[in-house]
Amino acid sequence: MEAPSLQWMLIDGFSCAICLYVFKEKWLTSSKPPYPPGPTDQSWFTGNLSDFPVEAIWLKFTEWADEFGDIVHLRVLDKHSIIVNSLDVAKELFEKRSNIYSSRPPSAMVDLMGGEFITPLKTYGDDWRLERRMFQQFFKPDVLQQYQDVQTRKINDLLSKLLVTPDDFLDHIRYSIGAVIMSIMYDHEVASQDDRFIKVAETANQKFAIGSTPSVFLVNVFPILRFVPAWFPGAGFKLFAREASLLAQQMLNDPIDMVRERMKSGEGLPCVASELLEMYHTERDLKNVLSMCGSGYSAGTDTSVSVIQTFFYAMIRFGDVQVKAHEEIDKVLGGDRLPKFEDRAALPYIEALLRELLRWHPILPVGIMHYTTEEDIFQGYFIPKGTTFFPNVWAMSREPNKYEDPNTFNPSRFLDNNGSLNDDDVGYAFGFGRRICPGCYFASATVWLAVVSILASFEIRKKKDASGQELPVDVHFSTDSILSHPSHFNARLYLVQRALKTSS
Ligand code: HEM
Repeated sequence: MEAPSLQWMLIDGFSCAICLYVFKEKWLTSSKPPYPPGPTDQSWFTGNLSDFPVEAIWLKFTEWADEFGDIVHLRVLDKHSIIVNSLDVAKELFEKRSNIYSSRPPSAMVDLMGGEFITPLKTYGDDWRLERRMFQQFFKPDVLQQYQDVQTRKINDLLSKLLVTPDDFLDHIRYSIGAVIMSIMYDHEVASQDDRFIKVAETANQKFAIGSTPSVFLVNVFPILRFVPAWFPGAGFKLFAREASLLAQQMLNDPIDMVRERMKSGEGLPCVASELLEMYHTERDLKNVLSMCGSGYSAGTDTSVSVIQTFFYAMIRFGDVQVKAHEEIDKVLGGDRLPKFEDRAALPYIEALLRELLRWHPILPVGIMHYTTEEDIFQGYFIPKGTTFFPNVWAMSREPNKYEDPNTFNPSRFLDNNGSLNDDDVGYAFGFGRRICPGCYFASATVWLAVVSILASFEIRKKKDASGQELPVDVHFSTDSILSHPSHFNARLYLVQRALKTSS
């Protein structure tokens, strides 16, 4: 009995979608200006569905940028998407017109995974506004000093771990950065790689990155498929979503329960979660507290970890950059201590190196999608309400007029002839307008300290075999979601300890 009714439901759904599409396209928009240019519709109904890349979407988007220009339009059924390929256009739309370009697209898969609890995926509205205020309160530049002790302690731990087992550098980075966030958010000291909170959050993160990428699951294109039962052939996405949803609940609830218990028994130090739990008491606000704290881990870890992992790769590949970085560090620190936050302004080459890391391989090559809440006209083109926008950060980081030889890792591109920093701070790597990353200053501080401390302590080299030949390094950046991080990093490293006259 179940199957025929489902079949009819799907047929009804598709018929409604067709009628709606024909009505909207042929009737409501017939008197409007044209859409921006883009690949020709492959079918009058599904539009560019078959053009939409599933893997490494930024590479295909950048090919289209070369063909069609700064804004590229695509249609899938009655849904419009626009790829923004230049920084000027991104600023014009997401910053100057941020009142209507600041929501997030609806996603059947995100709903099924329970992703309405994740701040970066929230639609523009009161819930998002409150969580954003919470983020700003705890991560605005003038409060960040209070986290410096934790950051320093965890980065020093990272140095010790690298010294003992350099080949495990990927795990050490992940563990140390996770430990910084867990300590600040929940006053939780991560004891080992197998920490229960970190394990859950890591797996939830991976699933959310994949599930929220629009082209990965068909249910994101045909939301009606969400009603398909889990046993139906091809409905594997339901199982995926159920697992992600359970993990998300655990990721949000378990650490907060721990903080609540500690508060009851008067133990523990103040942390973001305990301060928020003291400030907010209604059931609704408490949900926002859960979301904010959980989102801090999920948005803040993978991103910062990836930048530091990419740093190792860049140092192995571009040895001359490492030499220059060492020279600057030695000149400023005199080789007798580890760097401190106060040294940052005196190390412009390291600052330029950090910018180059964000530019050379952006961890979010198409940012996070924005979504219009009103229709608009831009450069004479019609932008419907409910259009999904992809800020093509990959294309922005390779703008030919700005970045010569963009695939070369060259921090000097951010320095003028006197060695001073220019005004390109690669802010686009942290997004735009009202949705710009609220953790950007904190992230920049953590990554800076990690990079400069590693450079002060070690020379990063490839290991050699018995005959003196350098062992090959094999790195792949992931392409299956909106996050692109070093997923296979097959490298044996030789971390030569640099002489620090005193051990700090
Ligand atoms: C190098 C590290 C990081 C990078 C490259 C990065 C990048 C981004 C980007 C591109 C966005 C989307 C902005 C937009 O929609 O236009 C974003 C959003 C966000 N980031 Fe980060 N981020 C980093 C670290 C962090 C950290 C450490 C935290 C928290 C402590 C954090 C919290 C968030 C949150 C909550 C959002 C959602 C903002 C919203 O939707 O309103 N991020 N980040």
